[in-house]
Amino acid sequence: MAIYAMTGGATGIGAAIRHRLLQEGNQVMVVDIKDADIIADLSSRDGRQAAVRAIREAAPGGLDGLVTCAGLGSNVPDHRLITQVNYFGTVELIEGLKDLVAARRGAIVLISSNSAPMNNSPEFVGLLLSGDEQKALDFSATIAAQEVYSGTKKAVARWMRSRAAEYAVAGVRMNAVAPGYTQTPMTEQVEKDPVYGQAIREFMASIPVGFPGKPEDQAAATSFLLSPDARFICGSVLFVDGGHDAMFRPDQI
Ligand SMILES: NC(=O)c1ccc[n+]([C@@H]2O[C@H](COP(=O)([O-])OP(=O)(O)OC[C@H]3O[C@@H](n4cnc5c(N)ncnc54)[C@H](O)[C@@H]3O)[C@@H](O)[C@H]2O)c1
Repeated sequence: MAIYAMTGGATGIGAAIRHRLLQEGNQVMVVDIKDADIIADLSSRDGRQAAVRAIREAAPGGLDGLVTCAGLGSNVPDHRLITQVNYFGTVELIEGLKDLVAARRGAIVLISSNSAPMNNSPEFVGLLLSGDEQKALDFSATIAAQEVYSGTKKAVARWMRSRAAEYAVAGVRMNAVAPGYTQTPMTEQVEKDPVYGQAIREFMASIPVGFPGKPEDQAAATSFLLSPDARFICGSVLFVDGGHDAMFRPDQI
């Protein structure tokens, strides 16, 4: 039985990941702001550190895997909050638990987004990667919500790639899943929006495979990347988006 820790397992994609890992016979510890084994607010440094401490106490022998799924969408009006949870809530948890995952030669899967390559704010992404939380938060308040969201998702993928080799040498395989449009409580709200609802429905209709993703599609990809079948996959960003990224960026790999 493998021991996994994950963030954002209360609803949506995270709940499906939790369900799948449990069904596979694993032990799963969920960190979330609600409905979780460890209640912690990943928007604050105190909350992140409390989550790391609680996981360390619960799994002193190490972790076989860690999934960072907690995140807020561009529908959230507070840009600082999106930045705090999506970027800093991801990298601080991973850094705080790296040695625990290394102890069992485990794997880490970050949840990015297929919106990451569409980001148009290299300055914001640069600030995130510099680790200066205050400057990144201040900057986030000056740009559009979609740029904040896609910027945080680009930065987590780039952070992962810039550390993948070092982590692998330490015994930790690290990859990211980049979901495309997946129907969850997060997207439900946008679909109902009187202003953006129609555009979202048209966007959904343009998904090449002909249907939107389900949380289970993201859970299947995450479970695969955590598994020994993926033992030679390291530093990859796996687009699970029905072909949207290929459609938008056919010439780029
Ligand atoms: N649904 C999509 O189409 C889609 C597409 C690309 C990427 N994603 C990413 O997938 C992940 C899951 O999204 P979802 O659609 O399932 O959304 P969701 O809203 O259903 O789930 C987000 C989870 O994060 C938790 N969370 C939020 N703020 C938190 C905080 N401060 N501290 C701790 N936990 C917190 C929530 O409680 C919830 O369990 C997110 O990172 C999101 O950016 C989703």
